[in-house]
Amino acid sequence: MSENRPIIALDFATQSEVAQFLVGFPKDEALFVKIGMELFYQTGPEIVTWLKSLGHDVFLDLKLHDIPNTVCQAMKGIAKLGVSITNVHAAGGVEMMQAAKAGLEAGTPIGKQVPKLIAVTQLTSTSEAAMHRDQLIEVPLIESVKHYASKTAEAGLAGVVCSALEVEAIKSVTPANFFCLTPGIRPKSATIGDQKRVVTPAKAKAIGSDYIVVGRPITQADNPYKSYLEIQAEWQTIKD
Ligand code: C5P
Repeated sequence: MSENRPIIALDFATQSEVAQFLVGFPKDEALFVKIGMELFYQTGPEIVTWLKSLGHDVFLDLKLHDIPNTVCQAMKGIAKLGVSITNVHAAGGVEMMQAAKAGLEAGTPIGKQVPKLIAVTQLTSTSEAAMHRDQLIEVPLIESVKHYASKTAEAGLAGVVCSALEVEAIKSVTPANFFCLTPGIRPKSATIGDQKRVVTPAKAKAIGSDYIVVGRPITQADNPYKSYLEIQAEWQTIKD
C-alpha cells in the first residue's frame, strides 16, 4: 500500500492563507492535505468541510490523547467530517486506541469510508535523553517506538506516524499491511528548518514509507506547485 501523492502539511493560521496557497495549484488537481492543530483550532471544523468540497483528501492530525470514552466520543465527531486519516497518541494505551477506532466506526455515516486511524509513537521532537528524563522510560528510544507500534497494531489500528528512519524497525514488529506515514521529508535542494533527522522523498520510498508528509518545502516555496510536482516525482522514483 502506498499513496502516490505527498501529503501537504497546511500549517497556516487562517482559511484565507490556505486559499491563497491553493491558488497556485490547478483547480482540478485533487490534493492530499494535512490539517494540524494550528489550523484546526483557529478555524474550526469548517476548514475540513471546505477542503473536502474542493475535492481534496484530508489527514486530520489532532493527536488525541485522553480517557477512552472521551476519545471515542471525539472520534464520532471527526468521523462525520469525512477525513481519510486521523490519529491518536499510542501512549494513551490499547484500550484508548480501540475506543478511538470504535468511535470512528460509530460516527461514520452509512455508505461512507471509515477514516484510517493511526498513532503517534514517540514524537520526533523527543530525544532519547528527554524520553529517559521526562517519561522515565529507560529503554532506547527505538525500543519504545517499536513497542508503541506493536501496541498500535494490537489495538487494530492501520499504522503509525514516524520518522522514515524508524520504518524498518517498525515494520519488523508489525503486520504486513501496517503502514508508516512519515514527516521530516526534505528534497535535496531544501533547507532543513527545525527538523533534525530528515530524509529525501526517494530515500523515504526506498526505506518503505507508505505516505510522506511535506510542509515547508512546498508551502514556503516560491512556486509551490512546481515544488510539489518535483517532490512527487522524487517520491515516485522507485515503483511499488
Ligand atoms: O514543514 P515540515 O515539512 O517540517 O512539516 C512537517 C509536518 O509534519 C508539520 O505539520 C509537523 O507538525 C508534522 N509532524 C512532524 N513530526 C511528527 C509528527 C508531525 O514533523 N512526528
